[in-house]
Amino acid sequence: MQQYFRKTCGALALLCLSTGALAQEAPKPEQIIKWRQSVYQTIGWECGRIRISLDKGFEREEVKKAADAIAAIANSGLGALYVPGTDKGKGWHDTTLKPEFFSNAAKATEIARSFVKEANDFARVAATGDAATVKSQFGKLTQTCKSCHDEFRKRD
Ligand code: HEC
Repeated sequence: MQQYFRKTCGALALLCLSTGALAQEAPKPEQIIKWRQSVYQTIGWECGRIRISLDKGFEREEVKKAADAIAAIANSGLGALYVPGTDKGKGWHDTTLKPEFFSNAAKATEIARSFVKEANDFARVAATGDAATVKSQFGKLTQTCKSCHDEFRKRD
């Protein structure tokens, strides 16, 4: 019996220690805003490469690399970077996320879903489609960027 208690207490102590450690590791709002801004900067870079390549006359390999990267980011669960309260504060610079993102969650979810869908469709089309199809799907993808920015990103 004594041994049983010792074991349980030991297990409980371990549990507390590990929960404590987890609590300590919870990222600060500033860190979350930095990640969010970095993710979108990366997406911005990939879209820039795609635009240049489509203008130059469609280099599939270049477009495909960028499309795969955007799809991977879109599929990685960006919702985790929208922690309530992070519509205020500074990451690399002051956040431009509007509070409406949290008060109009249904709209935010709808736009986020269409972004994920169009990003995955774009990666598929980039691998096999002809230049016109790739261009047209890129238009659909960037339309979701614009929808989200119009609704939920502050203008300077
Ligand atoms: C679901 C909403 C949403 C979608 C979809 C979206 N963005 Fe954004 N984007 C944001 C928000 C919110 C910010 C502001 C982040 C902050 O300052 O915290 C942002 C910021 C940015 C920034 C500036 C990053 C910085 O340093 O502040 C770029 C560049 C950008 N987005 C590009 C894109 C591109 C390109 C796409 C589409 C391929 C896209 N975004 C799709 C919501 C979105």
